Amino acid sequence: METLITKMFGIEHPIIQGGMHYVGLAEMAAAVSNAGGLGIITALTQKSPADLANEIARCKDMTDKPIGVNLTFLPTVNAPDYPGYIKSIIEGGVKVVETAGNNPSQVLPYLKDAGIKVIHKCTSVRHALKAQSIGCDAVSVDGFECAGHPGEDDIPNFILLPRSADELEIPFVASGGMADGRSLVAALSMGAEGINMGTRFIATKEAPVHQNVKDAIVAASELDTRLVMRPLRNTERVLSNAGVERVLAKEKELGDAITFEDIFEDVVGVYPKVMQEGEMDAGAWSCGLVAGLIHDIPTCQELVDRIMSEAETIIRRQAALLG
Ligand SMILES: Cc1cc2nc3c(=O)[nH]c(=O)nc-3n(C[C@H](O)[C@H](O)[C@H](O)COP(=O)(O)O)c2cc1C
Repeated sequence: METLITKMFGIEHPIIQGGMHYVGLAEMAAAVSNAGGLGIITALTQKSPADLANEIARCKDMTDKPIGVNLTFLPTVNAPDYPGYIKSIIEGGVKVVETAGNNPSQVLPYLKDAGIKVIHKCTSVRHALKAQSIGCDAVSVDGFECAGHPGEDDIPNFILLPRSADELEIPFVASGGMADGRSLVAALSMGAEGINMGTRFIATKEAPVHQNVKDAIVAASELDTRLVMRPLRNTERVLSNAGVERVLAKEKELGDAITFEDIFEDVVGVYPKVMQEGEMDAGAWSCGLVAGLIHDIPTCQELVDRIMSEAETIIRRQAALLG
């Protein structure tokens, strides 16, 4: 299938694996890219720019297909060494960067000068328009269904995608709640040029995470995610567990008086415990409503092939309706 996104990124299928903390390692990105999608390494999971350079090199040893790197700008006390990470990305010969969180205008000139395509992930039409105006090549439109940070507007993709199509001139992909061929065809119908998936790619054979995490996603239904940190205006959609229930109890108890320090233990340093050690009650980790649509743990190749063949079947069936 050829869309503006497959052409822009030089990939076979319009399927992207979004940046994921402690999941987007070289193995994950290489498996998705080898399957014909765009695999993305998550920069900030690497402790230093030198580690990121090493991770990019490892990934390139596993695939000769295009890969991307995610650079997330979230509110933090000690800002990471962004210039250093950008240097590693450029010197590593990466051709696509997914930015997320704050406006990436500071880093954009360096990436553009190096010929890198930038896709900015955003959760509202106004942020997508801003990304377009500062020169991003594409956007990933992340609906309220998504794992991670859905923003504070709470607009699901059935509204957000057509609204984006009505306003944007640059291409966009649909992110949040995407799982199968139905998702892809629906996204295309609403004006997207492809899909971005997070949670679905964790439940794959190659995802470099503890088996407990994959099993938890398969076991979860669409009723099992929670929104934490809403009172701090840093909302995150996570899988419910004992740590998350502690956070929610604190939020209820302290109301507007809550500070980050009050929930620190259950939201900071959680990812290595969950993803590497399989401690499922360690605290808050991102998971989407799409967990309700995930029932197996295929290889990335099987998953991507299945999405593409389902999409083809649906498109042919719909075309046949016209007689
Ligand atoms: C475990 C996990 C960690 C994530 N970490 C990041 C991250 O570090 N940076 C980022 O931009 N997005 C992150 N995301 C969001 C994904 O890139 C993607 O936007 C989201 O998962 C899409 O929603 P879906 O899970 O319904 O497919 C994460 C998602 C998951 C599931």
